[in-house]
Amino acid sequence: METKVTIVKDFTKGKVDDKLFSSFIEQLGRAVYTGIYEPGHPSADEQGFRKDVIELVKDLRVGLVRYPGGNFLSGYNWKDGIGPRESRPVRLDRAWHTIETNSIGIDDFVDWAKKAGTEVMAAVNMGTGTPQDAADLVEYCNFPGGTAWSDLRIKNGHKEPHNIKYWCVGNEMDGPWQICHLDASDYGKKARETIKLMKWTDENIQTVVCGSASSALPTYPEWDRIVLEHTYDVADFISIHRYFENQGDDDDFLASFYDMDQFIKTSCATCDYVKALTRSKKTMMLSFDEWNIWYQSQQEPHPWVQAPRILEDHYSLLDALAFGGMAITLLNHADRVKVACLAQLVNVIAPIFTEPGKGSYKQAIYFPFRDVSLFGRGTVLAPIVKTENKVTKAYGEVPAVIFSSVYIEEKDEITVFALNTSKNQSSETQIDLSSFGKTEMIYRSELCGSDLSAKNSLENPDAVKTVEIPAIQSDNSIYAATLKAASWNVLRFKVKK
Ligand code: AHR
Repeated sequence: METKVTIVKDFTKGKVDDKLFSSFIEQLGRAVYTGIYEPGHPSADEQGFRKDVIELVKDLRVGLVRYPGGNFLSGYNWKDGIGPRESRPVRLDRAWHTIETNSIGIDDFVDWAKKAGTEVMAAVNMGTGTPQDAADLVEYCNFPGGTAWSDLRIKNGHKEPHNIKYWCVGNEMDGPWQICHLDASDYGKKARETIKLMKWTDENIQTVVCGSASSALPTYPEWDRIVLEHTYDVADFISIHRYFENQGDDDDFLASFYDMDQFIKTSCATCDYVKALTRSKKTMMLSFDEWNIWYQSQQEPHPWVQAPRILEDHYSLLDALAFGGMAITLLNHADRVKVACLAQLVNVIAPIFTEPGKGSYKQAIYFPFRDVSLFGRGTVLAPIVKTENKVTKAYGEVPAVIFSSVYIEEKDEITVFALNTSKNQSSETQIDLSSFGKTEMIYRSELCGSDLSAKNSLENPDAVKTVEIPAIQSDNSIYAATLKAASWNVLRFKVKK
């Protein structure tokens, strides 16, 4: 098939926020226990954090890490996770049917985040939790000292405030599966009063209210409208979540980007409706704080145990391609999606996988995430694309090849991300960068292979990985690239002086 993409320097979409490449660690399964924290492991540091995992996280340049949940959050008392470890209570985590030792809490996680070169995006419990609990946590974390909660933090070894800036006000409160789920109006009122108390404790924080946990829920987008009508003036972001699963039709699955695109557009329209309704001058930004591939239908019940092996999806090359499509969609909405958290980071539906007492490795989805995180910072330029359409059962006609392009002005570099979703046709692609004057291609890589079911493992960690391939020359900044069937591509260019 033939494809043409024209990238025009002045045709800008929006600036990419560093928080677009964020992630999520929930106190769930083995994300924390034997994921980031495993005292006694050969690579563990003095706090019990696995240094091999820290290195892999650092390589991803993750902006924020959302913590501690997730569904876990709605039954969690943050006070259980502070102070001497031996005095912390062991509790039932009713969200995930798990025994929670509370060996890791907010202070420990902030320490870990610093070591991993990232920052914490904290979350307050809107299920069993009260506005007072939420404000107390902000005080504990961010107040310098001289009050009961801030002095307790100091006593617990953290003299300096954590200064956590971003706060999620609950998690998926629209989901009937959530502990103490609320209807939109009740949540909206509770969130509003909670944010007031939190911001009266620290005026520098920014808050995220719960939008829809999925576009598939019947309450979407009415939930978002009602919540925003209660919170538009006090909230800084509204969250949305979306997971995709291959239901057996690869073409539908590879077109997940289309579903995500529609979801973002509708969410923006809902925000803008409430903006008009409330006569606000503020444009609400989106925090897409859970997104990924998740084989949710394959979950099995398990007994009450500590750190069970749950949600441990092993990703294939095909999963990584569908994931790349989602990453392209997020980039192309960089004007409104300011935070996006790959859910999650270690072991639980994650790009990084560990074995207790043994090594760690990169799952297939690690590669497209690293590509966009390393090279997708700058200004998104809206590409003009002419390509064939593919007919899918789920979404009708969708483009077969999709693109995102990012311009880094300071370096005069352009990166083009391209996904060819066709499983049997390569794309003879013309990339027109002539609006930039003279350019040269400085890097090109692809993620593809004959076996779309290939997966990495501890024994075979390189079965799926990005491969650098020779760059293409051009005298006139129009490049002819063959994008292989079912391939994720990164093409980087420099403007010549
Ligand atoms: O990320 C796994 C779970 O997915 C989270 O706990 C929840 O917020 C969502 O339903």
